[in-house]
Amino acid sequence: MSTGTAQPATADLLDGVDLGRIDAHLAGFAALTEPGPGCTRLAYSPLERQAHAVFAAHMTALGLTVTTDHAGNTVAELPPTGPNTGSGDARALGTGSHLDTVPQGGGFDGIVGVVAAMEVAEIVVRQEAAHRRPWRFVAFAAEEGARFGQACNGSRMAAGLTGAADLAGLTDRDGVTVADAMAAVGLRPDLVDASRWRPEEWFAFVELHIEQGEVLRSQGVDLGVVDVISGSTRLRVRAEGRATHSGGTPMHLRRDALVAAAECVVLGDRLARDPRHHGVRVTVGRLRVEPGSITTVPGSVEFFVDVRDVDSVRQRDTARTLAAEFAALARDHGVALTTEVIADTSPVILPGWVADHIRHACASLGLPYRVLPSGASHDAQQIAHVIPTGLLFVPSDDGLSHVPAEFTPTSQIASGVRTLLAALHRLDGTS
Ligand code: GLV
Ligand code: MN
Ligand code: MN
Repeated sequence: MSTGTAQPATADLLDGVDLGRIDAHLAGFAALTEPGPGCTRLAYSPLERQAHAVFAAHMTALGLTVTTDHAGNTVAELPPTGPNTGSGDARALGTGSHLDTVPQGGGFDGIVGVVAAMEVAEIVVRQEAAHRRPWRFVAFAAEEGARFGQACNGSRMAAGLTGAADLAGLTDRDGVTVADAMAAVGLRPDLVDASRWRPEEWFAFVELHIEQGEVLRSQGVDLGVVDVISGSTRLRVRAEGRATHSGGTPMHLRRDALVAAAECVVLGDRLARDPRHHGVRVTVGRLRVEPGSITTVPGSVEFFVDVRDVDSVRQRDTARTLAAEFAALARDHGVALTTEVIADTSPVILPGWVADHIRHACASLGLPYRVLPSGASHDAQQIAHVIPTGLLFVPSDDGLSHVPAEFTPTSQIASGVRTLLAALHRLDGTS
């Protein structure tokens, strides 16, 4: 792919980034939350839909054409303007991220990328900046895997990785399927196959996101250009023992499902810390104990394991090893254990030529950057299956994310927005 002649973003355009506007958008989204610590705006909840409506209203007010597809993704399009309109390659450029959060999460994961899209759109419209491609600004639906196990539902449907037939098999903790949750907020799960993006319409997509790790902060660098995004394999494990009286049942007669599950949790942690598995991350973040009484030996436990890696072979080998070793451990406790893969997403290597444009954008602004992998999943990871995609990071204070304390200073977000704008400008002038 030729990189053609770069079209530098003008200083005026970059000067247009308004920190007050960014703060106001972030505060507006943060207010759309369930009660409790941090921000809770779950995938395919009414609050997530409200956030999409705020995004749509902003883009409509700017004069963009806004559509929400059957998967719940909202796309705002700005047609080409200026002297080169209609000349040459007219495939679209895109940017955006997601508006849902994990339970008791923060106000930055995903939101920063959508706010960046809103800010880029506002600057380009206000300054009537010329661009020869259509620019599309996207708020993806249901990126977080916290509710249904599978992450990135909206972008997976856009990329054709998840279809209508898959939506009845994924449930939340109350047994609500993705399909039912979508229908409850007015979407059409039966029609999502029509939400698939047409790759031939697209030139490139760039997502801005917070790092959700410590690398940029610890190195004092404000920008990260991602080369590879970790995959994840998620397991649902059910351990069935025997619920009995906690006082009346001697220790040698117990089949305690929680003791078996606890040993599995520790085993997963040990395995991931073993230098031979260096790089894999294993987490058990959700566990349900039945009957959940102080005075009853736990009879059954359900828990979820998240295995993440940038190496797809090691990711899946680790998941298989865990399933086998969990079963052996449980047998020692007289507990029956079953493991099921509920979600599996491959790591993705992002195309170097898109990353080069982002790196050159950083350099053109005199902003130091670091090339790094992403430990978290992203909409960019799904979109990259069908469209050349880049991912730009801004730092996370203390490396924290998925918690109320998640924070990125507005000045760093603004550096990200300027770099995004410059990168989109470069890509706009490229064939
Ligand atoms: C998204 O933040 C993820 O869970 O990786
Ligand atoms: Mn995210
Ligand atoms: Mn997240």
